Amino acid sequence: MRKELLIKNIKCLVQTDDSSRMKVCGKEMSVLENIENSYLYIDEGIIRNFGTMKEFRDANITESSGNIDVIDAAGKFVFPSFCDSHTHIVYSGSREIEYSDKIRGLSYEEIARRGGGILNSAALLHETSEENLYAQSMVRINEIIKSGTGAVEIKSGYGLNTDDELKMLRVIRQIKETTLLEVKATFLGAHAIPPEFKNSREKYVDTIINEMIPVVASEELADYIDVFCDRGFFTVEDTERILMAGMKYGLIPKIHANELDFSGGIQAGVKYNALSVDHLECTGDREIEVLLGSDTMPTLLPGAAFFLGMHYPPARKMIDAGLPVAMASDYNPGSSPSGNMKLVMSLGCVKLRMLPEEVINAVTLNSAYAMGLSETHGSIAVGKIANVFITKEMPSFQFMPYAYGSDLIDTVILKGQVIS
Ligand code: NIG
Ligand code: FE
Repeated sequence: MRKELLIKNIKCLVQTDDSSRMKVCGKEMSVLENIENSYLYIDEGIIRNFGTMKEFRDANITESSGNIDVIDAAGKFVFPSFCDSHTHIVYSGSREIEYSDKIRGLSYEEIARRGGGILNSAALLHETSEENLYAQSMVRINEIIKSGTGAVEIKSGYGLNTDDELKMLRVIRQIKETTLLEVKATFLGAHAIPPEFKNSREKYVDTIINEMIPVVASEELADYIDVFCDRGFFTVEDTERILMAGMKYGLIPKIHANELDFSGGIQAGVKYNALSVDHLECTGDREIEVLLGSDTMPTLLPGAAFFLGMHYPPARKMIDAGLPVAMASDYNPGSSPSGNMKLVMSLGCVKLRMLPEEVINAVTLNSAYAMGLSETHGSIAVGKIANVFITKEMPSFQFMPYAYGSDLIDTVILKGQVIS
């Protein structure tokens, strides 16, 4: 039986789009198309129609047919679901011990050098069964669904050997198969150098290239390939070797760049036509220039800079120069233990000096682009997947990032199905 859903009397339908654009850049980022007093009609999980309530009366949608669910959204806003294009949501345990170390004054890099950080999570993941890893991850997955995320990219990278990387990627696949979220998987074998390769980084890079990538590709476990290209982790040369090896198997680059230093990661990403380069706390004029001539989406993760007490990326400068900007949560146990995209928007406004319109574009259409999904997600457009959420009653769309601690989400709809 066909399943239809009608949301009517919407106070404001946010981020409507009839241009089939893939991303928004520069000045356009401060423009948001909205329709007040509107309706949204969904059929078989797809957005079929939307417009003003006045247009609804002419649209020939029969509310009384037995197959249609009707929601009255008077006083409420409807947004396209958030697209969280950068997470490490599959992990075991947590790292609040390091949190205390950080508060006492140790830096992220010092913790990593002592064998803490990513290596800590890798040791724990090694001891965790696939079943248990899935169960732990699903708690967080259900949490992000409730907080408005409709598409998520998830990275491996706490395995750091072939078996454990595959274990993580299989859990990501299971999440994809068992939830209504849109999921993209990224292979991040090059997240840290495991202790057994401490003095032979190149050998670990060889293992990634010769052992891990071929099996990840043959089992079709990943869409993208990532490298942590930064001081103390992987060099530009390592990054280029790994990206080239992945690209031979059809894995598209999407990399961690310039978080800790001017690492050359942005340039390496652009050189290999990465879908996105992420973090970018260390971005100057030269990096902006390189990004301007590319199709690579600069993706900012203000939750990580916030949590680590680091300086923020120069978002204002990037947008004013004409660049697009996406934002994601970086949900992970070490630098950003939160997948709350509404909080990410608030940090974008307060810390990156982005306007509410800009942050909404950054967590919907531009972040959909950063995970290869802007044809089907990231805006309210006819033919796109019906991943949306209805807010509680509120005065304006700007209220979303403004009321930074309030839970404003009332109803989540994924693939046309009402979740909560
Ligand atoms: O994106 N920068 C590298 N990786 C993660 C942190 C992972 C961790 O500390 O567990 C990040 O911040
Ligand atoms: Fe990350």
